[in-house]
Amino acid sequence: MARVLLIHGPNLNLLGRREPEIYGTLTLEEINRRVRELGEELGLEVKCVQSNSEGTIIDAIQEAAAEGFAAVIINPGAYTHYSYAIRDCIAALSLPVVEVHLSNIYAREEFRHRSVIAPVVWGQISGFGALGYLLALRAVAEKIKAEGR
Ligand code: DQA
Repeated sequence: MARVLLIHGPNLNLLGRREPEIYGTLTLEEINRRVRELGEELGLEVKCVQSNSEGTIIDAIQEAAAEGFAAVIINPGAYTHYSYAIRDCIAALSLPVVEVHLSNIYAREEFRHRSVIAPVVWGQISGFGALGYLLALRAVAEKIKAEGR
């Protein structure tokens, strides 16, 4: 069974309580449960990790290929807008990566309009709330199947 790594960046552990009018009322655990359930339907095992620290996120991305993951889904949180270290690490990874944002980053403050991650990922999903993770999982499922992995 193919495995997919889902990485949640800083402050996403606060989901449900954190600005619910922007990020929704589901907790991270509820989101992860829904993603894992869809994974079961699609024949994918999903490992979910969350970290508030840049280095831990980079370690997880670096290890993704070595650990046999077929794809990575990541919401880098605020690192999206300025972490060249996460960008470089994704650029060096030979797996499809989907960038997900709960909110529509282009409809918010100016500093959120730029993603330094977007140019090095397969695709980006922004503004669909928790549904974005499910869409991302469907996208990688199609790709993994199409590539016979
Ligand atoms: C976010 C958008 C970022 O600008 C913000 O810093 C986050 C969450 C989103 O999911 O909408 O932490 O990535």
